[in-house]
Amino acid sequence: MPGFEIIGKEEKSAVNRLFEEGKIFFAHGFDNKRKHFHVREFETELKSVFAQRMSDSLCVSSGTAAIKIALKALNIRPGDEVITQSFNFIATVEAIVDTGAKLILTGIDDTLNMDPRSLSNLISKKTKAIVPVHMLGVPANMPSIKQISREYSIPIIEDACEAIGAKVGDTFVGGLGDFGIYSFDFGKMITTGEGGAIFSKSKKLGKIARMYHDHGHKNLEGIPRGKDTAGVIGFNYRMTEFSGAFGKEQLKKFPRILEESKKRFIALKKNINHEEIKFRHIRIEDQPNYDTFVAVIENSSLRKKVIDTLNRTSFGTKNLPDAFNWHCAYFWKHVDKNIRTKEVKEAYKKLIKCVAIPILISRSISEYKNLAKEINACKR
Ligand SMILES: Cc1ncc(COP(=O)(O)O)c(C=O)c1O
Repeated sequence: MPGFEIIGKEEKSAVNRLFEEGKIFFAHGFDNKRKHFHVREFETELKSVFAQRMSDSLCVSSGTAAIKIALKALNIRPGDEVITQSFNFIATVEAIVDTGAKLILTGIDDTLNMDPRSLSNLISKKTKAIVPVHMLGVPANMPSIKQISREYSIPIIEDACEAIGAKVGDTFVGGLGDFGIYSFDFGKMITTGEGGAIFSKSKKLGKIARMYHDHGHKNLEGIPRGKDTAGVIGFNYRMTEFSGAFGKEQLKKFPRILEESKKRFIALKKNINHEEIKFRHIRIEDQPNYDTFVAVIENSSLRKKVIDTLNRTSFGTKNLPDAFNWHCAYFWKHVDKNIRTKEVKEAYKKLIKCVAIPILISRSISEYKNLAKEINACKR
């Protein structure tokens, strides 16, 4: 969450420099008039920080576009099935539905992400992609999901939009599947206002994704853009130079964002001590990005008191429950009137017990310690 909190003079000068550098706001061409290709530089820097093992890194206009592009690169089309999870953001489901593929939703495990057992049960001959989503900064059980993907030879698109900075073992999320997806919208760990990135494992598919996001352009070296040829039927999902220049500055601040978020997350974890309040499960091998702390509270009257406390102290809740309808498939009858499957209903029952506390670096560590005290004092 905190990227937007520390926007400052660095981002402002980066954007201003674009005016001094020749006012080229487009990521392609104008080679003789520009000093930088900021979007391309941002891609290289993202790859070196987060996805060294992947073969390509591509910046695009949003996380939603990034998912759509990955699905297109895999040639997902009507008649195919794509599996994602019931705790999600509507964007992921929209991108799937937009390809014409059938949406299949798994249940969730105690990490609140894709339940590998449910995934196994839902795979069919038509399954063409698996989309685990690392919701609210915590990795899904990737080792088990990857094992299933290998067993059935089904590619993984890892939606890491909400989890930039989280790790599975020593690998950042986004670098574990066939494609990894980041969002840089205004609520994310690094923001460019709007924006997204795709990491591709396969050089070949990365090339298709790159062409698709830019009207099919092959961007052949030495050939003027107007004389270039198209490799695929594409679309315009390009990132602007404003976002590229802005993103490079945010990326420099990322270690600080992560470290400061971690201190506040740990302050909550150490200081919430209430026999009726449990915490969301995080696998021992994994590391969250510390952007949200999720408490699990069975008793509805106690839960309400905790939510009231969070609202009174202006922390608020993050998505659970304040934007529950946008993050739980149970509410998405506009997508599929039969969406309330057994898996979706079970996920709803788990999520209704959750209260998500945003980690903000504009709030001090002692404010988080005091918040823990206030939560501990809540009674049914
Ligand atoms: C899990 C998840 N996937 C996809 C997206 C879409 O990203 P964007 O807002 O950049 O389109 C979001 C954004 O909130 C998200 O949380």
